[in-house]
Amino acid sequence: MKNKKYTIVTYGCQMNEHDSEKISWLLEKMGYEWTDNKKESDLIIYNTCLVRENAELRVYGQLGALKNLKRRKPDLVIAVCGCMMQREEARNVILSKYKHVDIIFGTSNIHKLPQLINRYEQTGKTVVDIVEDDRETIEEVEANRKYSFKAFVNIMYGCNNFCTYCIVPYTRGREKSREPEHILKEIQELGEKGYKEITLLGQNVNSYGKTLGYDYSFAKLLREVNKIDGIERIRFMTSHPKDLSDELIKAISELDKVCEQLHLPVQSGSNRVLKAMNRKYTKEDYILLIEKITKAVPNIAISTDIIVGFPGETEEDFNETLDLIKKVKYDSAFTFLYSIREGTVAANMKNQVPNRIKHERFQRLLDTIYPIFYEQNLKYMNKVVEVLVEEVSKNNDNVLTGRTRTGKLVHFEGDKSLIGKLVNVKITTVKSFTLEGYII
Ligand code: 5AD
Ligand code: SF4
Repeated sequence: MKNKKYTIVTYGCQMNEHDSEKISWLLEKMGYEWTDNKKESDLIIYNTCLVRENAELRVYGQLGALKNLKRRKPDLVIAVCGCMMQREEARNVILSKYKHVDIIFGTSNIHKLPQLINRYEQTGKTVVDIVEDDRETIEEVEANRKYSFKAFVNIMYGCNNFCTYCIVPYTRGREKSREPEHILKEIQELGEKGYKEITLLGQNVNSYGKTLGYDYSFAKLLREVNKIDGIERIRFMTSHPKDLSDELIKAISELDKVCEQLHLPVQSGSNRVLKAMNRKYTKEDYILLIEKITKAVPNIAISTDIIVGFPGETEEDFNETLDLIKKVKYDSAFTFLYSIREGTVAANMKNQVPNRIKHERFQRLLDTIYPIFYEQNLKYMNKVVEVLVEEVSKNNDNVLTGRTRTGKLVHFEGDKSLIGKLVNVKITTVKSFTLEGYII
């Protein structure tokens, strides 16, 4: 019999991407084969995100578009998982309006997917399986990783911070660190298999260790990971400014494998807005942190997340954000329009910013920040950088793309046999989002 085919559509953060790699591993153990083509799939899975409204709307749009396919191909199995499914409201929408969805599961019970598929195939009835908090059993699930040279590794799950705009603590549950020996064993195995780069994942990696019940910090974990043979680059995300300790800054500066890159979401430059967001630091604290880290690691690339139009944000508040951006000189940033997430504290704030103003500020934010990215990239002109070659460029077969230790995307000519290798590239062209050069 021909193998069944599956496809996974993933929305949202790296956490979700990595969960999809785990789902893929489970399905291939069951004999399923990957396809990019929905029309030839026997199983389509949507791994959803709830962080902003447009991610949510896109899922509903995609599901709506599948109605016809399912009508023509009744054996097609459609499953929806991820953060959206952790919310009862979203599950109810799917159950009432998208009746062609067959399986609904959450972020904590990915390991049960084979059982859920069997249950659906035996009964033909919609299967809903959600667990609120416990990710422990997922420890047994391996990942079918997208690349053979760089890998995500979860170090903790959930979040305890309750930033007032954010839905994550309500979907991914309370913060919980994985045991260090499990993490280190996983990375050792990756090193033995030839993986060169790992990214340690958590909603707030800086508070790693707090739930373990014994004294263990993120800095200590980095020191242990740094000793693992084969691994040449260590990245991590996301960091919360309130937990970026001196111990951690010291570790980043001392450890040779830890890359010169830090994603440090600031969200806003206004102290009033930061307070309303429950971020627990001020603009001044943040700038001081940046000064400390750039002193310890002079060539570090700093990126951030910024939200525009948080409830009550005035013109003055927004100007504080622009001022902060100019002072910090980011290398890159994810910029977001504030999106109301029902169930969060900010959703009930009375002083929502009108859409028109949000969009206008958003444009001014981009106009301010893009030239800064370019200015930061200019520092690379005529320099030689180490690049981990990742793939062939989508637009040109002779061009390869890869990343510097600082996370910059670089294009250069080369043969695809170099994929997965470290090469030295001399930079000859600089743009706001990419660098170009040639291998030396
Ligand atoms: N609206 C807009 N952006 C948000 N983020 C989280 N919640 C919201 C929201 N309700 C952004 C934050 C966070 C990133 C992952 O998504 O900037 O750091
Ligand atoms: Fe959301 Fe804040 Fe937790 Fe990040 S730290 S996941 S923004 S609550």
